[in-house]
This record gives sequence, structure tokens and C-alpha cells, in this order.
Amino acid sequence: MRVQVAIIGGGPSGMLLGQLLHNAGIDTIVLERKTREYVLSRIRAGVLERGLVDLLEQAGAADRLHAESITHDGTVFSVNNEYFNVPFSQHTDKPVTVYGQTELTRDLYDVREKTNGKILFNVEDVQLHAVDGDSPRVHCIAQGKPVSINCDYIAGCDGFHGVSRQHIPAGVRSEYEKIYPFGWLGILSETPPVHRELIYSNSDRGFALCSMRNDSLSRYYVQCNASDSADQWSDKAFWDELKQRIPEQFADTIETGPSIEKSIAPLRSFVCEPMQWGRLFLCGDAAHIVPPTGAKGLNTAASDVYYLYNAFKQAYRDNDLHGLDSYSQTALARVWKVQRFSWWMTSMLHRFPVHTEFDLKIQRAELDSLRQSKEAQAALAVNYVGLPY
Ligand code: APR
Ligand code: PHB
Repeated sequence: MRVQVAIIGGGPSGMLLGQLLHNAGIDTIVLERKTREYVLSRIRAGVLERGLVDLLEQAGAADRLHAESITHDGTVFSVNNEYFNVPFSQHTDKPVTVYGQTELTRDLYDVREKTNGKILFNVEDVQLHAVDGDSPRVHCIAQGKPVSINCDYIAGCDGFHGVSRQHIPAGVRSEYEKIYPFGWLGILSETPPVHRELIYSNSDRGFALCSMRNDSLSRYYVQCNASDSADQWSDKAFWDELKQRIPEQFADTIETGPSIEKSIAPLRSFVCEPMQWGRLFLCGDAAHIVPPTGAKGLNTAASDVYYLYNAFKQAYRDNDLHGLDSYSQTALARVWKVQRFSWWMTSMLHRFPVHTEFDLKIQRAELDSLRQSKEAQAALAVNYVGLPY
């Protein structure tokens, strides 16, 4: 088989890139290791920047999002019992869109199927060959049979645990990593959200977040020990802990119910440089991970997709390789700004085991500045709603 671009990984990065290229008349195949059902069972964040919504529109995958998503014009921060709102519209002209990553991925699968885009699920043993030459190839096993794909380019959209990144030679590749000494225990609950906006909470007992998927589906998190397992947290223990970490007004009115999903996510910052080697281009979690504070994972994958999609268009339509040659540099410049923002949000809101009284005072001063200073709120707002591409 021959295609122009072989895409490894059918998560949101691979699916969005694949559909944009497909709609632009560039021939692609998506190779996904898991089944469609497995990918759609993963619960991830659900706050989308305008740039991502625009890309979904271009991909023809935004109809359900427009019908079902919620628009947020601000967010709430709390410190123990006190809270304040940071309005986005006073500082930017963009709101954010609340719509789950799972639903977004489902919409991308549906449009790929409807437009007859090539995709193979359940592929095994994906191997990349000759990525630094003119004719790269991908080999894999699909439904028990070997498949060989010749292509012009390979997009490595296979997430943090994928194979693509390893093809950038060790002597060329630099990896930057920070592991945080805690995790997030999250639950999904078929109850109305406690508030119309998200609440990011710094409390003496640790961080908590009140989020949502829609008017009758809520997503809540509490900071937990990195070594905890989700089974050791009963629903009651979760709700009790959450209520102690949010202002009384919300603790008194929150509607609790059985969790329909409960899991623990580790917190990590990670960047791989460069994001390109020969004809291999990394995109999304394959190249970088952010801690979830600020919901930048999916949105940063989307900015990579934007740069790479436009670079492929430039290469195929205008025979101009400039966008592809500068992809890594362009994408990384934005990635590091987002890393800074996610690290800052994480540092401001969590309890760290090494925190001294001094560190806690600094944290309080940071939150106090955010509450009182229009400039500090503006800086948060422009980052939260999404830096320009
Ligand atoms: N071959 C084929 N597919 C693979 C391989 C492989 N060797 N390794 C991994 N994959 C698939 C995974 O099964 C997964 O479906 O690649 C996909 C990668 O998807 P994600 O991990 O979701 O990464 P990405 O698409 O970059 O999405 C961006 O934003 O909110 C964050 O981390 C969150 O997933 C989210 C990300
Ligand atoms: C979520 O809704 O899952 C969510 C929202 C905001 C975050 C992280 C996760 O910062």
C-alpha cells in the first residue's frame, strides 16, 4: 500500500491531523494499536481552546460539539473558604468550550468513517523504517496479516508510550522531565455540576477541582498520593475529602452520587526535542506531556496539529518545504510556553511534601496577587483560553 502520510496512533492528535489532511486531498492512513471501543473508554480532560474548536470545524467534526458543548467565560479559584472569579472576557475576546475529549474523539471517528478515510484498529507490532531517507515505510500486523505501507512522511501521534519518539537517535534527542510527587484522583458522576464555572481549589488538605462534562455529568478531582490506588478510595471517602477542600458554600450544595468512573492520573511535565527527524514528525503526547492543571494536554496537541497540517499543505500544494523544516522549532516555542503555564498553575495550587512555611506563604501571595491584580488575571486569561498559534 502507498499513502502520502502514514499516521501512527488514532488518539485525538492522529484523528484530527488525519481528517484535516484527508479533507485537503492528502492521502493518509491511521494505524491504531487499540480497538475503537478501548480508545473511547478513556476519560480525559474537557476544556477546549478556540483554536482546537476551529480545527474541528475545518475537519467537519464540530456539529455535535456546537449542539452540546457549554461555553465558559471565566473560572473560579478558591483558597480554603474564600473564592474569586477570573473573567476571561475582560482580558481576551475568547471563551473556552467545555466538551469531553472522549466525545471529541468519537466525533472524529464518525467523520473518518463517513468520509471513507483509511484507518486500521487493533494493529500490532508497528515498525517504522528508513525515516531519515526519502522513502520511509511502516510495517505492522493487522487482523493477523502483515501490512506494508510506503509513504512520503510519517506523523508520530502515538502518545507518550508510543514507538515513534524512539526513532529520533539518542544522540540527537533531548528529553526534559519533571515528575510531581502526587496524583489526581478523578471521578465522573451523573450529578449536576456544583457551579456553572470550574473551581480550582487550593486548600490546606491539598488541591481539588470541580469540573463538568454537561448539565447532568460532573467531573471532580482531589490531589492524592502518587502511590494511592483508585480502589482504596470509596465514593464516600472521595466526596468527604472533596467537600473539605472546597468553600463551604459549594460543599453544602454539591450533589453527590455513585461514581461511574474513578481513576488516578500521575502528574508529569515532559518535552522531547526535536519533534522531527528526517521524515518523521511527532505530534501531541508523543512529544510532550503537561500536568492536567489548566487542561492544556489536548489543546497543545491541537497546536502541533495546526502547524503540521499547514506545513503538509504547503509542501503538497506549493512544493514549499519551509513549514516542514521549521515545524519542530515552531511547535516547541509554543509547547514551552504552555509547559510554563501548566507548571505555574500546578505549583500555585497543590500541596507539595517538601513545602516549608515559607513556600506556603509564597503560594498564598501568588493567589492573592491573582485575586487583586488585573494584570495577573489578564496573564492567566490569555494563557487559559489559549495562546495564539
Ligand atoms: N502503534 C499504533 N498506535 C499506538 C502505538 C503504536 N505503537 N502506541 C500508542 N498508540 C496509540 C494509543 O493507543 C493511543 O490511542 O496512539 C494513541 C495516542 O493517543 P493519546 O495518548 O490520546 O495522545 P494524543 O492523540 O497525542 O492526544 C493528546 O491530550 O489531554 C491530553 O493526554 C491527553 O490523550 C490526550 C492528549
Ligand atoms: C476536566 O474536566 O477533566 C478537567 C478540567 C480542567 C482541568 C483538568 C481537567 O484543568
